[in-house]
Amino acid sequence: MERYAVIGQPIGHSRSPAIHARFARQTGQDLSYEALEVPGAELQARLAWLHQQGFSGLNVTLPHKQAVAGLCLSVSARAQQAGAVNTLLRADGGWIGDNTDGEGLMADLVRLGIGIQDRRVLVLGAGGAVRGILAPLLALRPACLAVSNRNPWKPEALAEAFKLHGPVLPRTHLALKGEVYDLVINATSAGHSGAMPRLPGGLLAAGGDAYDLSYGPAHAPFAAWAALQAASRVEDGLGMLVEQAAAAFELWRGVRPQTTAVVAALRRQVQTGTDADEVVPGHQAPRRSHVELPPQD
Ligand SMILES: NC(=O)c1ccc[n+]([C@@H]2O[C@H](COP(=O)([O-])OP(=O)(O)OC[C@H]3O[C@@H](n4cnc5c(N)ncnc54)[C@H](OP(=O)(O)O)[C@@H]3O)[C@@H](O)[C@H]2O)c1
Repeated sequence: MERYAVIGQPIGHSRSPAIHARFARQTGQDLSYEALEVPGAELQARLAWLHQQGFSGLNVTLPHKQAVAGLCLSVSARAQQAGAVNTLLRADGGWIGDNTDGEGLMADLVRLGIGIQDRRVLVLGAGGAVRGILAPLLALRPACLAVSNRNPWKPEALAEAFKLHGPVLPRTHLALKGEVYDLVINATSAGHSGAMPRLPGGLLAAGGDAYDLSYGPAHAPFAAWAALQAASRVEDGLGMLVEQAAAAFELWRGVRPQTTAVVAALRRQVQTGTDADEVVPGHQAPRRSHVELPPQD
């Protein structure tokens, strides 16, 4: 049985084992997928050890997405552009890095019927996730694409870094006053501390959409903001989470799982506060940190 895992710290919150267990069952694949707690100081040694143990692929989550990029034999063009890796594929002598976050968002927007072309799009935040989604968003030819951030220098840097893909309008949150957008995408991590960036009113056009990369309790502040703006719809990032996982699964196994039922099941879990892990009939329960990692010197 081929082995896969997600690595990060902390890892107890990860929904990836439950998602991949469902994908495996749905596609009839015989594999195991675990969640492994890996401290930053041990990242390089653990990656080498997991390769030595024969793992076929890994997902990477916070806080290692950037650091892992520098530990790969090579990285895909999109991971290079993002400066971050969320998926590792086994190769002779090491790992090849990729980034499926942008593909995950695009697939979720398609699934939800949220268009980009000819619409005025505002992205809040300028961190690693934004680096992963900007190029695919620009490829869909929005009427304009603005990036607004608390730290005012990051949008300027992103506009420069992505100028070959299309124009990015750098903004600060306050400088958005008087501007109007058809779609606002929240890619800040503010919701994890119960916060929402301070934004001027009137940002969202009548009939405008709001999309949040965050989900669960972290989605609440943005959802409340969007409701105040009378957004026509507010979506959270659960669908993107499942879609980026489906893209990784396809890279590893050569088959793309169906996502709609998996998103629905995950949403039920989140809404009912069920534990992240779930036993899928016919498959073993996803495991956490069961691998005995070697002691570090
Ligand atoms: N659904 C999915 O599949 C998926 C995938 C990837 C990421 N995400 C989510 O996307 C979010 C961003 O992830 P990331 O990897 O880009 O994180 P990151 O690199 O740490 O960037 C965090 C961003 O949030 C901003 N921010 C943080 N606290 C804020 C506050 N109180 N007010 C205003 N801005 C604030 C930061 O602004 P400064 O630059 O000013 O610090 C920065 O732009 C996270 O919630 C993550 O969970 C979801």
